[in-house]
Amino acid sequence: MDFEITSGSITSAESDCLIVGIGADSQLTPSASAIDQASNGYLSEILAQGDIQGKSAQTLMLHRVPGITAKRVLLVGLGKQGERQDRNYRKVVKAAMDQIKASRLKSALFAFDGLAADDADSYRQVRHLTEWAGAELYQYDETKSKKADPILLEQIQVQLDEELRDIGEFAIQDGAAISNGVSTARQLGNLPGNICTPSYLADQALALGAEHDSVEVTVLDEAEMEQLGMHSLLSVGHGSDQPSKLIVINYRGAGDNDKPHVLVGKGITFDTGGISLKPGEGMDEMKFDMCGAASVLGTMTAIAEMGVELNVVGIIAAAENMPSGRATKPGDIVTTMSGQTVEILNTDAEGRLVLCDALTYAGRFEPQTVVDIATLTGACIIALGHHATGLLANDDELAARLLEAGEQAADKAWRLPLWDEFQEQLDSNFADIANIGGRPAGTITAACFLSRFTKEYRWAHLDIAGVAWKSGGKEKGASGRCVPLLCQYLLNQSADEE
Ligand code: BES
Ligand code: MN
Ligand code: ZN
Repeated sequence: MDFEITSGSITSAESDCLIVGIGADSQLTPSASAIDQASNGYLSEILAQGDIQGKSAQTLMLHRVPGITAKRVLLVGLGKQGERQDRNYRKVVKAAMDQIKASRLKSALFAFDGLAADDADSYRQVRHLTEWAGAELYQYDETKSKKADPILLEQIQVQLDEELRDIGEFAIQDGAAISNGVSTARQLGNLPGNICTPSYLADQALALGAEHDSVEVTVLDEAEMEQLGMHSLLSVGHGSDQPSKLIVINYRGAGDNDKPHVLVGKGITFDTGGISLKPGEGMDEMKFDMCGAASVLGTMTAIAEMGVELNVVGIIAAAENMPSGRATKPGDIVTTMSGQTVEILNTDAEGRLVLCDALTYAGRFEPQTVVDIATLTGACIIALGHHATGLLANDDELAARLLEAGEQAADKAWRLPLWDEFQEQLDSNFADIANIGGRPAGTITAACFLSRFTKEYRWAHLDIAGVAWKSGGKEKGASGRCVPLLCQYLLNQSADEE
């Protein structure tokens, strides 16, 4: 998709469709007003007749509006001022995109005059418009014999005042890159477990490396992980015929002496639970158990495209969790790369088992910060539902930065405590640590487990179990969260380190 900033007169703009806002109670926004004047009151007449009242996300497509060059005008309700939060703004963008797609248009021009969102930050408004319009263009048809109708839209223009042009250009560049990152993550999440295996994830990472000079990818196989002593990670794949992989994506956007930020993703390409087998109902959704890995790949894709001036290392711990005669059994004890031993009381708590070795490995990069992203616990869905990512951290400043990035990116997280009190739930009679801490505070004890491997650096954990995909019905599919949060965090970091 070609995104472009334009500052010319809207009435003489060449486009298949001008998209203008109508405030609550049929108020004309400035761009709507300009069209109204050029057309001798055509819009006010329609508004007076009450065909559209300006309720949030209401739409009305008008054809052959007199006095303008564009072929159509789409009126979009913006709702009341003070009620145009991110959530409503996104609905407005989606409503407009639905009309554009349904009418099979090739080009469209958004002219909201900065009024579609309450927040007056032009960069943020344009970036979100770009990201969210981009998200509406994603459609999954990879494994369908009948392909989706192609979306014909080729160009989206965004109208901005001349003096905001530079800000707007940055916003659409960043927005388009983040939107690509989100689509990358969604696509990987949506692919089934028989296609998206650990080796497939490795190939996708290698392809990213081939595309950008700034990205170098190394894939460690099982023998190499064995050498490193990653017996915990390897124990998860023992029951599977698919070999486990540790994928390291090294992005260099800054000088060699700049210490990197490290992202670590859980890449369980299918989680049956192993010998601690999950119930059958809804088990297909455990193909999404690699969404942490997908968000790392999506974020690396976006930052490479943006050319963010930071060094960032993405690490993906990829394995398939299956039962078999060779599978790890409850009670088995493994030695992690860190030397700590783990009693695996439940083979379904496998995410932490792959992450712990990847987190130990992360230490060799002498990271400034490490953030892991994982669909780690069902308990996180009980705690925070499907709206907020769970955030736990051993560093208050890092936690605050991630929370703020989530707010800015409209990809919110919420912090849970990581107090020492919870650590005792992981005591084991037979090993240094057990891999489960019982039912109470399941998200926290999972993070406590990880915290045993992250003492050497500033670390945060994002539990995306509730937000990484939508279940059931027409909406079922991966969301691409939390690519926007991670990109925003890294963009902020690069701005501050300059
Ligand atoms: N991948 C699951 C977590 C999960 C479950 C995410 C449902 C999204 C929806 C994870 O590997 C898991 O099975 N966790 C267990 C941990 C328990 C055994 C301590 C869980 O949450 O039940
Ligand atoms: Mn599991
Ligand atoms: Zn899992």
